[in-house]
Amino acid sequence: MKLRKMAIAMTAVMALGAIAVPAAAEEEAQVIGISMPTQSLERWNRDGSYLKEQFENAGYTVELVYSDNDSSQQVSDIQNLLADNVDILIIAAVDGEALNTAMDEAAEQEVPVIAYDRLIMNDAVSYYVSFDNYTVGQLQGEFIVEQLDLENAGDATYNMEITAGDPADNNATYFYNGAMDVLNPYIEAGTLVVVSGQTDFDTVATDQWDTQTALERAQNILGSYYADGTQLDVWLCSNDSTALGVAQGITSDYAGDNTVIITGQDGDVANLANIVDGIQTMTVYKNVSNESIVTLSLAEAMLNGDTIDESLCDTFEIDCAYDTESYETSEGNVCPSFLLVPSVITADNLDELVDTGLYEMGEDGYLTAVE
Ligand code: BGC
Repeated sequence: MKLRKMAIAMTAVMALGAIAVPAAAEEEAQVIGISMPTQSLERWNRDGSYLKEQFENAGYTVELVYSDNDSSQQVSDIQNLLADNVDILIIAAVDGEALNTAMDEAAEQEVPVIAYDRLIMNDAVSYYVSFDNYTVGQLQGEFIVEQLDLENAGDATYNMEITAGDPADNNATYFYNGAMDVLNPYIEAGTLVVVSGQTDFDTVATDQWDTQTALERAQNILGSYYADGTQLDVWLCSNDSTALGVAQGITSDYAGDNTVIITGQDGDVANLANIVDGIQTMTVYKNVSNESIVTLSLAEAMLNGDTIDESLCDTFEIDCAYDTESYETSEGNVCPSFLLVPSVITADNLDELVDTGLYEMGEDGYLTAVE
């Protein structure tokens, strides 16, 4: 890695016997290039500002860019960061398969890369920081099993629909598989019935995790399969932006009672309001402030040339596992990963979010993000 910024400024000279030594050594701050996918989904705004704050407080200079969910824009954004001589890149990919050109250039310039939250499928990536994505899906599946008490369902059957995430996002299949591995035995046993028959990932996926796309698909399904009064019991949604669309569709286009179980992920403020109102049932919360703290520790260790292994997890008080098995790039190598632990939030434990210090509860009972 280049050490171009190790300029020592002789700001003062002090006489020590006959030898003059610099009294203060002033290093130009190292530059952190952060590339986030979009500002149109709530969480990435939070990720961007937490990361910026963490790194600036630690004395780094930060260049933060958003790529409007456009992977070719993200390639040129990353090229611009490289042209600005950043010392390290932190990237949440729009499309984990579409960054090869930028990754090759980072490798040529010996700029190390951390894949943030979403894996980039290229070996130029040194490390991956995320939450345990498979567990996110598992928590959603287990929640449905518990809510419907599927283990003791006997002859009862429940109707379900499924909305998954963006196929370009490597996380999306992890969420889907985590949930479906829990739910499939009940689908096979006929206890859970997917009335539309739409179960495979490609059919239930949502480009760019877009709320409007999720809404329109929900409206189509409700119009085609539930307009005759068929009861809908649960809608598995991989995250909050899609859950928002599905909830709107159910509100506008479903005539049955309003007790449909809807899952989500992130803790977006609009979805937390829906949880308070009983419109959405749960969200899998991922504390992205903690994700930025882990990323800072990792980046510092990389920039210092430290050995990186599970002992890094002792440097912060955050539940986090060092995983060297789960995440493979498309070049066939495992990307060493630091995976944080997600948790379930419902109307009954919203105070856990307030306890993080990142949300506050208004007198009306709704949560807002602390600025
Ligand atoms: C993130 C989720 C998020 C989704 C859409 C995924 O990569 O892990 O937290 O809901 O992208 O922004």
